[in-house]
Amino acid sequence: MYTNLGFLTSHNGSNMQAVISACNSGLLKAKPTVVISNNSNSGALLIAKQTGIPSFHLSTKTHPISDELDLAILNALISHKVDLVILAGYMRILGKRTLTRYQGKIINIHPALLPKHSGPGMYGIRVHQAVLAAGEKETGVTIHLVDSDYDRGAIIAQSTIAILPDDTAESLSNRVLEREHNFLVETIGKIIAGEIKLNKINQ
Ligand code: GRF
Repeated sequence: MYTNLGFLTSHNGSNMQAVISACNSGLLKAKPTVVISNNSNSGALLIAKQTGIPSFHLSTKTHPISDELDLAILNALISHKVDLVILAGYMRILGKRTLTRYQGKIINIHPALLPKHSGPGMYGIRVHQAVLAAGEKETGVTIHLVDSDYDRGAIIAQSTIAILPDDTAESLSNRVLEREHNFLVETIGKIIAGEIKLNKINQ
């Protein structure tokens, strides 16, 4: 069962907001129980405060020793009884302890069709610039399991978006983000309902 959701985010948190709203409206039978951000000024932490979800700033500033940071993140997830961890714009690699304890239960959302246009430094507007520069006919959204590499875990689900002749990186970014919000909620819904079995995704 995946009923308690934990979020790791670095910036705006619009994907996290979409999932929280879906939980609040009853569309998702799940409860957001904790929000963790490595960025003390992130919009995500603000959303957590406004919606009354316990939240923590955990970063190399609060925990300069990486193993201690890993442990602090893991403790926050465990103490808030998190079953499914959602990386929604989280710009860091998770530590070994967290990856091991939550193996197969951590998902990430990426604004392109993996394995293309991914890896360190490939985030935000850069992804869409790279998609256009490569002359792609389509782009999309990928939701995948998280491992110790950037954007490399097994793919859970993808949604495709056509690239229009007059698309710019900005227009693409807006269209992809809108799709991300719906697709993340839809995919988490399928995971919760058991229609997508994370333990059957090849890792
Ligand atoms: C999204 O595009 C997501 O795919 C990527 O980071 C961005 C986060 O946006 N991993 P937001 O913070 O959810 O608005």
